[in-house]
Amino acid sequence: NEGALWGGRFASGPSPELQALSRSTHFDWRLAPYDLAGSHAHARALGRAGYLTEADEAEIHRGLDVLGARFADGSLRPDPGDEDVHGALERLLLDEVGPEVGGRLRAGRSRNDQIATLLRLFLRDHARVVAGLCLDLVDVLAGQAAAHPDAVMPGRTHLQHAQPVLLAHHLLAHAWPLLRDVDRLLDWDARVAGDSPYGSGALAGQTLGLDPVAVAADLGFTGSSANSIDGTAARDFAAELAFVLAQVGVDVSRLAEEVILWSTAEFGFARLHDSWSTGSSIMPQKKNPDIAELARGKAGRLVGNLTGLLTSLKALPLAYNRDLQEDKEPLFDSVDTLEVLLPAFAGMVATLTFDTERMAALAPQGFSLATDVAEWLVREGVPFRVAHELAGACVRRCEELGIGLEDLTDGQLAEISPHLTPAVHDVLTVPGSVAARTGRGGTAPVRVTEQLDEARARAEAL
Ligand code: ARG
Repeated sequence: NEGALWGGRFASGPSPELQALSRSTHFDWRLAPYDLAGSHAHARALGRAGYLTEADEAEIHRGLDVLGARFADGSLRPDPGDEDVHGALERLLLDEVGPEVGGRLRAGRSRNDQIATLLRLFLRDHARVVAGLCLDLVDVLAGQAAAHPDAVMPGRTHLQHAQPVLLAHHLLAHAWPLLRDVDRLLDWDARVAGDSPYGSGALAGQTLGLDPVAVAADLGFTGSSANSIDGTAARDFAAELAFVLAQVGVDVSRLAEEVILWSTAEFGFARLHDSWSTGSSIMPQKKNPDIAELARGKAGRLVGNLTGLLTSLKALPLAYNRDLQEDKEPLFDSVDTLEVLLPAFAGMVATLTFDTERMAALAPQGFSLATDVAEWLVREGVPFRVAHELAGACVRRCEELGIGLEDLTDGQLAEISPHLTPAVHDVLTVPGSVAARTGRGGTAPVRVTEQLDEARARAEAL
């Protein structure tokens, strides 16, 4: 078992079947730069504590730099005999600087505190990338909102026409969840930053008087684990991030579903740009919303990664168990998925064109101005119970006549109730309806303009 990190107490090497099961280099190799950064920091800690001469420490940093450069140019590769990234890099460092010097680096650390640290480092970097991509999508939504300041559309509940809203208002309703997701990512990062496990050893801490706080600072953390068992065994940080990533996927999937609907012939609200849609191999006329469909599908995959991870963690006794090796693939998959999905999705949204005339024509359908009639009556002093009844009576009358609320004549209105004076016509238009919703957060153009500024300021501040 040459080159392995263990073996002293074993009379024979691992079976090929065990090796095949145990090996993780095919997925954890991407942690190599983080492992090397950890080793640099650890070498400095060993040097400060007197376990490495200046010359030996310099030689280790040199060796690690060589490995880093070879990783960057793609020439550094694990061997089939390497169990994981940590073992592979130790073997490669020994090749570079010799066993005498290289063999000193492992003192006072374990793969258990290493992996718990490296995973945090990797995820912190990628959480930042995902946050940036979410903000790019927010920017695109804000841009589309700004480009359509007065376009109206049917607002829906239960997918049925409910009340007219501004298209900009609806688009911004997809931006706010993403802003909260970015907030969650930052919040998560601040929590993870305080908890560097390096120095926790296998589970019980180390005896060499190394300074974990200095190592933590070296690696960009603000603090080190207060409990070495927790430091090596906890993966709530991983599950928490998997949740936020799944939530991003779910938030995007809700807009995806609408884009899919909007681009059908039946809705006809939006058209996809040729560069951001796909054709059919058999049906020449087809233009498909594949990006939106992949977004919808990948949301399921992100949720699966979260539930898989939580299931692996459930009831796992302290401290480190090899089960924990299963944490990496779902997390890597979640960040990879969003890093490829979000730019495509943002491009699709940025290039959507809206048929604002059709949306405006459909906005008053389904008697979507009935609430406006009721609220107009309330402003005229009629109790809401009565107002609701009267507006309902208007709808019934319109259904009988096969017309819209806006088509009722003064006479027909007065027949329903003397309260329904001709002035009610002011709110029986879609622009009148939206303009009247001036409460904070409402769909009135003045409020939506403010909201757009607020969303942009929020994104700026994140
Ligand atoms: N490769 C392991 C992981 O990903 C870290 C090594 C710890 N292995 C061990 N046998 N203690 O979790």
